[in-house]
Amino acid sequence: MSTPPDAQRMEKIVSLCKRRGFIFQSSEIYGGLNGAWDYGPLGVELKRNLKNYWWQVTVHERDDVVGMDGSILTHPAVLQASGHVEGFSDPMIDCRTCKAHLRSDQLVEKKGVKQCPNCGGKDLTAPRQFNLMFETHVGAAADESSIAYLRPETAQSIFVQFKNILEVSRKKLPFGIAQIGKAFRNEINPRNFTFRSREFEQMELEYFCRAEQGMELLEYWKEERLKFYENIGIPRSKLHVLTVPDDERAFYSKGTYDIEYDFPFGRQELEGVAYRTDYDLSQHQKKSGKPLEYFDEETKQRFVPHVVEPSAGVDRTVLALICEAYSEDQAPDEKGKMEARIVLRFHPRMAPVKCGVFPLLKNNPQLVAKAREIVALLRPHMTVFYDESGAIGRRYRRQDEIGTPFGVTVDFETLGEKDAALRDTVTLRDRDSMKQERVSIHDLAGILQTRIG
Ligand code: GAP
Repeated sequence: MSTPPDAQRMEKIVSLCKRRGFIFQSSEIYGGLNGAWDYGPLGVELKRNLKNYWWQVTVHERDDVVGMDGSILTHPAVLQASGHVEGFSDPMIDCRTCKAHLRSDQLVEKKGVKQCPNCGGKDLTAPRQFNLMFETHVGAAADESSIAYLRPETAQSIFVQFKNILEVSRKKLPFGIAQIGKAFRNEINPRNFTFRSREFEQMELEYFCRAEQGMELLEYWKEERLKFYENIGIPRSKLHVLTVPDDERAFYSKGTYDIEYDFPFGRQELEGVAYRTDYDLSQHQKKSGKPLEYFDEETKQRFVPHVVEPSAGVDRTVLALICEAYSEDQAPDEKGKMEARIVLRFHPRMAPVKCGVFPLLKNNPQLVAKAREIVALLRPHMTVFYDESGAIGRRYRRQDEIGTPFGVTVDFETLGEKDAALRDTVTLRDRDSMKQERVSIHDLAGILQTRIG
């Protein structure tokens, strides 16, 4: 059972994202560009942590995967061969009453009659296919001969470069090619904050294999991807695997799973894991006339490999991380009175800032100098935020709200004024339990690195 949508929670999340600099509407001062978003100072750190971790576990920690970074501008022949020019479209319907353009699956049905979800109007056009690709022109001439597309998925450049990468990497099947990058879709109705955007990023792996390995590898990658989400702080209980039914799968796919997450606006897709067979490479081989086969030296066979594709959305995962982390609880103020606290409980691995460093008093040069020393000590290892303004409880609260998992306070014990044995120790505060412990500055970087993971 999916949990009921929670519009109020979503509103609070969107407002926090703007207030603290995670995500802004693109071109906001000109009224905004629908379906496009800008990531602010904290959002960009969160996004980088996600992409870096994906790259680490998908490419760096494996012998069987290499990376690439393809161009966004795409030759029309590539997308003709892949089927996107002909068929990458959604059925669109217009409401003649409020003039809204709607995807046909967004209509609401009351007493068997389809209605516009915005105004309830029943005067609707017949569905027509709307191609989601952004077309542009390359060079000075704006005619048929100069058409190019902004890629609608990163996958196609991997297929098109398959032969080059196979030759330079000398990998044996099964092996994968990974890519993180922008993709563009002219979505009819962008919505749910960044969830459905017109410009977004994907993290895609094309894992090439023999035909007989396809179904087994589909299961393997589904499990690997579920583990990934758990390792970034999205619990298994909030993830759901949908087996895409035969009649909804792409015709060339022999099996597809959608990994879904319980967003506050409902259960929605985070990632698709699809067994795409040899469709893409075969199409490109046929249309380009260039061989895209693999030669198996043991069996002396030449064949077009099959592929299993885990394809994740960066922006959707960032949104899931924020939704999962958002929490409200109670914390004591300066006088010990409980007050409401907003806290982002990010997994430390994902947190944009790992550690806040605070001198107890900003007008004590010794405390400030020591705190600055600690900042310099930690900065080569992690993102650190130095804050000397306001009461210490306020400073903790500001860091809680952006999800900083650790806070280090430099106090008079650190200077050895009360007890010489405590010289060069600091208090280390945990965001979630709010417990404080005394640790030596010497051990600090090591302790934090272990806890960040
Ligand atoms: N290469 C396969 C492919 O692109 P997809 O299911 O269309 O498959 C993969 O997209 C992932 O890309 C989705 O699961 C989602 O996370 C992300 N994605 C797709 N369209 C998106 C959009 N309009 N806005 C944000 N993310 C999107």
